[in-house]
Amino acid sequence: MSESTALLERVQALQEAAAAQIETTTTAAELEEVRVAVLGRKAELPNLLRGVSELPPAERGPAGKAANVARGAIERLLNDRKAELSQAEEAKKLVADRLDLTLPGAPQLPDGALHVITSTWRDIEDVFTGLGFSVLAGREVESTHYNFDALNTGPTHPARAETDTFYVSDNVVLRTHTSPMQVRAMEIYDPPLYVVIPGRVYRRDYDATHLPQFHQVEGLAVEPGITLSDLKGTLLAFAKAIFGGELDIRLRPHFFPFTEPSVEIDVACFNCTDGWVGGDRCPVCRGEQWLEILGAGQIDPNVLRAVGREEYHPERVQGFAFGMGIERIAMLRSGIPDLRLYIENDVRFLEQLR
Ligand code: PHE
Repeated sequence: MSESTALLERVQALQEAAAAQIETTTTAAELEEVRVAVLGRKAELPNLLRGVSELPPAERGPAGKAANVARGAIERLLNDRKAELSQAEEAKKLVADRLDLTLPGAPQLPDGALHVITSTWRDIEDVFTGLGFSVLAGREVESTHYNFDALNTGPTHPARAETDTFYVSDNVVLRTHTSPMQVRAMEIYDPPLYVVIPGRVYRRDYDATHLPQFHQVEGLAVEPGITLSDLKGTLLAFAKAIFGGELDIRLRPHFFPFTEPSVEIDVACFNCTDGWVGGDRCPVCRGEQWLEILGAGQIDPNVLRAVGREEYHPERVQGFAFGMGIERIAMLRSGIPDLRLYIENDVRFLEQLR
């Protein structure tokens, strides 16, 4: 056998071995290993090609050509396999990364909810709009005229003291209640007038049951012939709607400069009056059986006079007014007695009051 025949057979064998190896690779990395083994600098085939120059001149041509053809064939096999493998890997990835867009989303954010003061505010507003009242807003920075004088609250009244009230200047304060809107509303609107005015108010107080900034809802009804019975009926309907059930309310004599007579309104303790936890043990009323919920009364004639309009002359119209603290209503409904918790905004607390 001539040298060149032996060489051609060896080339043939190497090509077949390479083809078999290429075919069994399953990853790009494996394929690269095979490429280095069959075509790399130390591989047999390239070295055989170099040996072609030592053949007799007549044999060099065919031998060289055969070896180059083999090399080309192996390179093609490598390229084809590379394409196949990358296609297979791509397909595998597509299957693995498949997204089912029809599945429900995984919840990432906790549900939000209204703050207990906001929801109580809205509940109160809902009850009164249901009874035919309109809702007004007022200003938080108010003149002493509307906050005190027009409300029959004389210059020596203790509520005017700087220890109780935030003064912006001599005759401007942060309103200490929503009552200034009584006179403002009557100045603007004609009777009959049925309005509630929710909003922020300010007092120099800070402990478990008093905040320097809190919320009130003022109520005002003016029309010829309104009596204290109308006040009682309105607030009874309110109490039933807010505290639920067939509970009773009572009027207790009190004093406010801007109402005459003045009353405080108590609601029967919804926690203990049906008997199951009574006496001193009731944590809500502490055995009193009544809970104070708001101040109210017949509008004092001096307040109607301060409006200065013929339509509101005390001989022509009468009315009632009331004012309640939103925090107090929320506190009674939730049974959580420390108001400071309501403004700390600890989510663990707020979540319990949704
Ligand atoms: N403004 C009074 C308060 O803040 C409440 C009130 C309003 C009383 C209307 C009577 C009439 O305590």
